[in-house]
Amino acid sequence: MTETAPNSNEIARAVAALRRGELVAFPTETVYGLGADASSEAAVRRIFAAKGRPTDHPVIVHLGDNATLDDWAATVPPAARKLADRFWPGPLTLIVPRTAHVLDVVTGGQPSVGLRMPDHPVAQALLRAFGGGIAAPSANRFGRISPTQAAHVRAELGAAVAMVLDGGSSRVGVESTIVDLSGDQPVLLRPGHISAAEIGAVLGQPPLMPTSANTATRAPGTLASHYAPVTRLELVDGARLHEILSDLLAQGLRPAVLARRPAPRHLHEIPWIALPNDAAGYAHGLYASLRELDRLGCDRIVVEAVPDTEAWLHVRDRLRRAAHRE
Ligand code: TXA
Ligand code: MG
Repeated sequence: MTETAPNSNEIARAVAALRRGELVAFPTETVYGLGADASSEAAVRRIFAAKGRPTDHPVIVHLGDNATLDDWAATVPPAARKLADRFWPGPLTLIVPRTAHVLDVVTGGQPSVGLRMPDHPVAQALLRAFGGGIAAPSANRFGRISPTQAAHVRAELGAAVAMVLDGGSSRVGVESTIVDLSGDQPVLLRPGHISAAEIGAVLGQPPLMPTSANTATRAPGTLASHYAPVTRLELVDGARLHEILSDLLAQGLRPAVLARRPAPRHLHEIPWIALPNDAAGYAHGLYASLRELDRLGCDRIVVEAVPDTEAWLHVRDRLRRAAHRE
């Protein structure tokens, strides 16, 4: 949507910073990543410090379009090869058995590694110029909403990063689909823009949904609360939206709304964002909208529930986590 092109001076500065072991935030088509040289233990450790993230959480290694799975995987499962051929560069992370040179700090000590080739001109220019893998989680504080604009990263991580490359607003808007191919059967660890049905069409069978039996690792799907704004968030059925808002107002509370339709006239004083009523358009705007509503300091962010269909699975997943309270 509003992706911007790389600037060669900035790419050169970013590469120099990565080589010095510093952190560089960069845009991808899903969300912004907080990048470090994947071959430097000290550099990757800085990611965890900046995010306030537990060190046993593995990070994804981002690859340039000149790299291959074979550079990072000890053995490449045929299913991984097929998915990479079909969807890379793109919003899909593949978990595969790692080669010996992949650092423990990257994989959380696990025998597998998460790999992704992002489809964004700035990310690709950076990866090609750097030449190696860039380890990067989303560029937000642990447990918070992923950034989809450079300004989000600056506001949240500011001083911890040497540089924030600006690539405009991330096209997809939610994190990549993650498929684990390191076990007997493909498992969908995190739903994303590339759907289970699209993956199933390539593999000839749909991926399994994660369970405690087939998921050894602590993937984001196993943390009930993730991607959360500070303001309490409540998911409500569209049919009851107006009634619930009127109730909150009657109690003297100040709600803000994220819906798929405009505010009715009698509720026009409520801060209200209407996102498109299609899953791709909604996902694109979701995180920026939650950040905007969160900033208002209201008592409640009320979100109109989204359709219960496969196309909206990744959006439902993120909203459910954002609504979860410990
Ligand atoms: O779209 C994305 O994937 C973004 C952009 C920046 O590429 N990255 C991202 O990273 O969302 P992060 O760290 O916030 O989420 C990646 C998740 C981690 O929480 C981790 O649990 C899982 O991927 N992961 C990474 N390597 C893994 C592995 N070897 N086994 C299981 N899960 C893994
Ligand atoms: Mg994240």
